[in-house]
Amino acid sequence: MYLYPKWIRVWHVVNGLMFLILIITGLSMQYTDKENASFVVGFAPAVKWHNFAAIMLTVNYIIFVAGNFLTTNGQYYKTSRENFLEDLLKQLKYYSWGMFQGEKHPFPVTEKRKFNPLQKITYVLAMYVAVPLLIISGIGLLFPEITITKFFGVSGLILTDILHITMGFFLSIFMVIHIYTCTLGDKPTSLFHGMITGYHKSEEHHS
Ligand code: HEM
Repeated sequence: MYLYPKWIRVWHVVNGLMFLILIITGLSMQYTDKENASFVVGFAPAVKWHNFAAIMLTVNYIIFVAGNFLTTNGQYYKTSRENFLEDLLKQLKYYSWGMFQGEKHPFPVTEKRKFNPLQKITYVLAMYVAVPLLIISGIGLLFPEITITKFFGVSGLILTDILHITMGFFLSIFMVIHIYTCTLGDKPTSLFHGMITGYHKSEEHHS
């Protein structure tokens, strides 16, 4: 099944690389101490590379939203309210129990359903909630003159910063879990193979 068009594969590789640069340089900025001893990268290069990767990620994000709006790929993210919790629990139960008992995937991949319910909700939350908040708060920090100065007596810049590092933290955790769940296809390499070649190989099930 051809499930990953070229544009989504290019978007994904750029997104992943920029994310890694942002995490390393972000942590470097956060943990550089007063004596300016560098964490992984020195403070000045960390700022430069963080800004560069952020701009690339933002442009890339616009391509992601536009691509999903203009092509059928966006359909895969649509979540229906019907059986929402039930399906989510089914998938969670599979990952925490069924999988180890050799049960079959409760929501096997088909042409119509690329993502299982858990993938769907986490991808929607990551891409349409966390990433936009990360980008908006990042713009606020890059251009402090446009950021609200006070919000209920608290510095707007500090609040923007808290929002930014919280989203960065959530998305870093998302990325670790995401890479782990991507090893849970038919074979540990199946889903990575799909994201590289575009084709998802389904060995045991078609429906
Ligand atoms: C560099 C580390 C990463 C690796 C190795 C990786 C791996 C994968 C793989 C194998 C898939 C295909 C399986 C699937 O469709 O679920 C996938 C899809 C996806 N990944 Fe990642 N990923 C990484 C980073 C990220 C990051 C940082 C984000 C978002 C912030 C992300 C968001 C997504 C999304 C939204 C999809 C579905 C795309 C679509 O088909 O429409 N990934 N990833």
